[in-house]
Amino acid sequence: MNKLIINGGVPISGMVRAAGSKNAVLPILAGTLLADGVTQIRNIPHLHDVTTTMELLGRMGVQLTIGEKMCIEVDSSKIENTFAPYELVKTMRASILVLGPLLARHGSAEVSLPGGCAIGARPVNLHLMGLEAMGADISVEEGYIRAKADRLKGAQIVMDQVSVTGTENLMMAAALAEGISVIENAAREPEVVDLADFINAMGGKIKGAGTDTITIEGVERLQGCDYSVLPDRIETGTYLVAAAITGGKVLVKDTNPQLLDAVLAKLEEAGAIIDTGDDWIELDMEGRKPESVNIRTAPYPAFPTDMQAQFCALNAVAAGTGSVTETVFENRFMHIQEMVRMGADIHLEGNTAIIKGVNNLNAAPVMATDLRASASLILAGLVAQGETVVERIYHIDRGYDHIEEKLACLGARIRRTTN
Ligand code: UD1
Repeated sequence: MNKLIINGGVPISGMVRAAGSKNAVLPILAGTLLADGVTQIRNIPHLHDVTTTMELLGRMGVQLTIGEKMCIEVDSSKIENTFAPYELVKTMRASILVLGPLLARHGSAEVSLPGGCAIGARPVNLHLMGLEAMGADISVEEGYIRAKADRLKGAQIVMDQVSVTGTENLMMAAALAEGISVIENAAREPEVVDLADFINAMGGKIKGAGTDTITIEGVERLQGCDYSVLPDRIETGTYLVAAAITGGKVLVKDTNPQLLDAVLAKLEEAGAIIDTGDDWIELDMEGRKPESVNIRTAPYPAFPTDMQAQFCALNAVAAGTGSVTETVFENRFMHIQEMVRMGADIHLEGNTAIIKGVNNLNAAPVMATDLRASASLILAGLVAQGETVVERIYHIDRGYDHIEEKLACLGARIRRTTN
């Protein structure tokens, strides 16, 4: 099984390019199911979740061609079936994103229920409730969501809870529905905006993405287009924390600083000197140790839950005591026990981790439990004394593009082994 071996203690230094956003490319690839004709998607990150999505679309009969320079050509004009099997959905919850587009364009879909996952129950009730409001007939049988509709009808939908993929699924369904849909209490994440921009580039009529009220005027058909995926703000933030935690200096290029306001504010509070341009961010720690920060996760534009684990690692070696409160997912602290095994001083009080910074972390064999937890253990390994072995790194390959190559280019002593 693949492992990462990290010899810590080297400050991160240099320049790295941010890849396309995982959480934007997955809904956009699902959104190609809405189009007649060929769509070119650019700035595709090299991720296992992208491969899984391509396999999912391929099994439906979608024609996919990998081009040069991180580009994929997708032809969804004819498909053979509208089935998303358990064996693929169980490896990637975002597979649920095919439900809305299949139903809207083909009138039926059979998609496996994603089930639980390490970070919490993560139900899909909001997705189903919204599609039913648009007239879909939905049943859940034998672990599968079976949905049918003649033509979806525009509806007024109030989301009980802010859901990113829930908003995206309903926005895609509404794009081809008859009439106008309004999604209230919609997610405001930049990836929702990117999907809306993509659908509009195909001829859709979506307004208000990026606010909590999105209005979608359904159209008869959408056409293929040429679209470039936005940069990954979580990958960007992870490299910034890598520099902050090691007292180093990094310049992340091909990114967008405007998507990281809450994260940059916390890094500055931790003592980092930050400079930004239109598409780059430089963080300089000037060799200093970070100061502890208090974090509370919440939907965008607040501090992202996907950066929570990385800031636990930062606080673990910072000066002072910091608290990290997780409000989005109920069980997203599995990295804490692994960090404690590396010598971190952390205790949990409900959904808050109280983290007292220690002078040094010590290397240990650790196990990744989910995507962002894996990233946080790698960060801890970069600053720990000795050789850290991170196991179960298939999680990291789901969502980080060439992570060990990128960190190695920044001076980290990190390598992958297969035994
Ligand atoms: C997306 C992101 C993930 C990120 C999360 C929160 C993708 C592919 N993944 O996940 O990286 O961590 O947003 O920013 O974009 N909920 C319900 N019922 C539903 C749907 C959600 O109760 O039908 C709850 C969830 O259990 C969770 C909260 O709502 O507690 C937010 O989840 P949601 O925004 O839906 O997360 P995802 O879209 O799965």
